[in-house]
Amino acid sequence: MQIVLIGYMGSGKSVVGKALADRLELPFLDLDDHIEEELGMSIPDIFRKKGEIFFRKKEHEYLKEILLSKDKVVLSTGGGTPCYSGNTDLLLDKTPNVFYLQLSVASLTARLADEKDHRPMISHLKPEELQEYIGKHLFERRPYYSRANHTISCEGKSVDEIAAEIAAKLV
Ligand code: S3P
Repeated sequence: MQIVLIGYMGSGKSVVGKALADRLELPFLDLDDHIEEELGMSIPDIFRKKGEIFFRKKEHEYLKEILLSKDKVVLSTGGGTPCYSGNTDLLLDKTPNVFYLQLSVASLTARLADEKDHRPMISHLKPEELQEYIGKHLFERRPYYSRANHTISCEGKSVDEIAAEIAAKLV
């Protein structure tokens, strides 16, 4: 079974993915961690030294490789993964278990305020610019996220509650 979590930065894809994998006793993979390991560089360094286009190319390559080689996996993607290189089509072709973890702009802003420094898409923003940026960015990305098989509203829910909700919807 392949289960894929998508959603904006800070929506909890990694922490929920890990909890879900533990609950289901499936291997867990975080696409960003995998890219960092394969390339031997942190995500900020990849963006800084190689540029975003290089990152998106590698993101696509590794995503394809993982989906082809791992039959059993809970995969947490990066916030931009579904929005490039036909990646959403790839995901939806491979599994009926693609979940969008949805949070409001206000909640995402609150979560990302303290941890934007290691996220190259937002690290250059001033704190007061964050909410407007996220609002616009999410508006652009929503059409991709919305193609998931299921949208899980994560507002006010614990990690375990979200993992349980996903587990109940698996096919
Ligand atoms: C990105 C999100 C990040 C990471 C990279 C680009 C994006 O993943 O893939 O910094 O374009 O939204 P997280 O959603 O895990 O922060």
